Amino acid sequence: MNNIILIGFMGCGKTSIGIRLSYRMHKTLIDTDKMIEKLKNITVSEIFEQDGEEAFRQMETESLQKLLEEADNKIISAGGGLPLRSENRELLRKLGKVVYLRVTAETVCQRLADDTSRPLLQGEDQYIRVSELLKKRSSVYESAADVIIDVDGKTFEEVMDEIIGNMEEYKDESACN
Ligand code: S3P
Repeated sequence: MNNIILIGFMGCGKTSIGIRLSYRMHKTLIDTDKMIEKLKNITVSEIFEQDGEEAFRQMETESLQKLLEEADNKIISAGGGLPLRSENRELLRKLGKVVYLRVTAETVCQRLADDTSRPLLQGEDQYIRVSELLKKRSSVYESAADVIIDVDGKTFEEVMDEIIGNMEEYKDESACN
């Protein structure tokens, strides 16, 4: 399928870049967190609180299965933990080109210092929490990705240009084959 899927850690810019990409490429943006919130009519934080993380992960898998039936030619912003399940990584691959927005713990903490919407980052010592999670997840993100883009120090526009450049390369390659 011909979607562009943005993956990466919380605060890497999936939503901000996804919105800009959707305008620039005239494609609809789908956000898996928002999809789940709309379907269940509660927030991600409430799902974590009431049903726990595992239940949320199952909802993420179900949302990808649904997207596989109906989403094509879209920009998809995937929740930060969605690629953790190997089943989900396979579904992502079927959905389209997977772009990993790689970010450092420093940038995440600068961006999310006052955030209250991410249950996994609440509490003391945000930097330690982010660093540990990033360390655990980095190789998973890398293995799920077709394209890796380092986002630190770049504007959203610069990152977007890189994504579009990469997608054009893909188009050229498939035209040659
Ligand atoms: C999560 C990331 C969040 C959201 C949930 C869990 C994670 O999405 O799905 O809070 O495990 O990294 P964003 O990456 O869009 O913040």
